[in-house]
Amino acid sequence: PQAAVIGGKSFTAVAINCAAKAGEWIKTKLGNYSRLDIKYSPQDLVTEVDKGSEKLIRSLILTHFPHHSFLGEEGVEPGPAASAKALEDVKDAEYLWIVDPVDGTTNFVHGFPFFSVSIALAHRGEVIVGVVYDPMRDELFLAERGKGAYVHGKRMSVSGEETLASSLIATGFSADQQYALPLNMKGLQALAPQVRNIRSGGSAALHMAYTAAGRLTGFWEIGLNSWDLAAGALLIQESGGVVTDTNGNPYHLGVRNVAASNGKIHDEFIGALKQAEAQA
Ligand code: IPD
Ligand code: CA
Ligand code: CA
Ligand code: CA
Repeated sequence: PQAAVIGGKSFTAVAINCAAKAGEWIKTKLGNYSRLDIKYSPQDLVTEVDKGSEKLIRSLILTHFPHHSFLGEEGVEPGPAASAKALEDVKDAEYLWIVDPVDGTTNFVHGFPFFSVSIALAHRGEVIVGVVYDPMRDELFLAERGKGAYVHGKRMSVSGEETLASSLIATGFSADQQYALPLNMKGLQALAPQVRNIRSGGSAALHMAYTAAGRLTGFWEIGLNSWDLAAGALLIQESGGVVTDTNGNPYHLGVRNVAASNGKIHDEFIGALKQAEAQA
């Protein structure tokens, strides 16, 4: 395998540099983008800023690591089938960068200041570096496999709640109104009366990062993609939390229906989601 450090640049340094550069640029474009297009459905938006951010990140990564594989949201045809196929084609690559250039495009378009850049590096399908950057708060969440997770250089750990009743749980509402959204609504209906409260910020990667940082007890969402979750999954695992699919099976790059938590509530959380799914 390729050495971890090439020309003095570690994988982690490149990931951080890309997220910071892209994030700074995106911030300058808030309220100032020029082109809004629709992708898979009228709810599925893209601007020139999503594409520009991905281009910037991709070219920086490939300059440092020309033999690595790259999977970015805006390089893939819209829709769940094409996304799954694109991942299938590259998921076993020796080194694969998985990038969401703007997670929270709808927020970005509306000027709701909650979005992020998500960058993960997987080695033969296992995430080894994860960075989620929130340019509006200048918060950089970083994890390296086996070395813990950090926000602003400070070690993160998941929250201490032991029950759903004392949990603050986030979810998100997919642009896929055929399958994902109705199933998510079932989960919402089942969980809302059982938890302390529900939040929906509009960036899956930040919901994952906030779970890692102990600001949320957990997060679930139906119909996500590898680029929404890869970096955040490592953040949570390295902060002592648990990431599975909504049936409780371990996280892998192909997971689309995610349940992530501090671990302590996980069985109860999965139980409630399974019940909701059975009624769907
Ligand atoms: C979306 C955000 C949102 C989630 C959607 C995602 P995008 O990603 O993460 O929070 O609810 O399901 O598609 O399109 O803004 O990168
Ligand atoms: Ca999108
Ligand atoms: Ca996303
Ligand atoms: Ca995106």
